[in-house]
Amino acid sequence: MKLLISESEIKKRVKVLANKINEDYKGKNPIFIGILNGCYVFMADLLREIELDVEVDFVKIRSYEGDSSTGTIKFRKDISADINGRDIIIVEDIIDSGFTINFLVNRLRNSGPKSVAVATALFKNEVAKLDFDIDYVGFEIPPEFVVGYGLDYNEKYRHLKDVMVMEPEDIK
Ligand code: IMP
Ligand code: MG
Repeated sequence: MKLLISESEIKKRVKVLANKINEDYKGKNPIFIGILNGCYVFMADLLREIELDVEVDFVKIRSYEGDSSTGTIKFRKDISADINGRDIIIVEDIIDSGFTINFLVNRLRNSGPKSVAVATALFKNEVAKLDFDIDYVGFEIPPEFVVGYGLDYNEKYRHLKDVMVMEPEDIK
């Protein structure tokens, strides 16, 4: 595996994103909705830099098997919070094809939130097909398969502190 983004670069960038959110949502009480499992490291880092009165919830969605998207969404856990009239910030580990985030944004919009924004640690801009802009992007990365900082390959490597690129020979 080779290093793509180091722990210290991530730390600095997360602070910048959080400061931007703190400014953009001044006086508001957004609900952060994380997409499990991948979001948990980024979500924990981001939230601890947030100085607003916030709530936290999670959904669990699965679209990936191994190193590729299956093209279908499996919904494993829905939100518990009532999001009607609320400002929502969805927190994702990575946006690849955009399939997952498109699905979730459209689904949440049906529940009448006041606003929906998206924060993602990583963004494969060259691959993603989206009909909206991503509000808070940690890093744009090339279209390679990465692990670490919450991201997995078959549930492994989520605990790595840096973002690493998997070599093709590591992907079986
Ligand atoms: P999308 O639906 O194609 O945008 O993919 C989003 C989901 O696929 C993410 O939430 C990740 O769980 C997973 N994923 C996409 N790219 C990668 C990667 O490079 N490494 C690990 N997981 C990935
Ligand atoms: Mg994920």
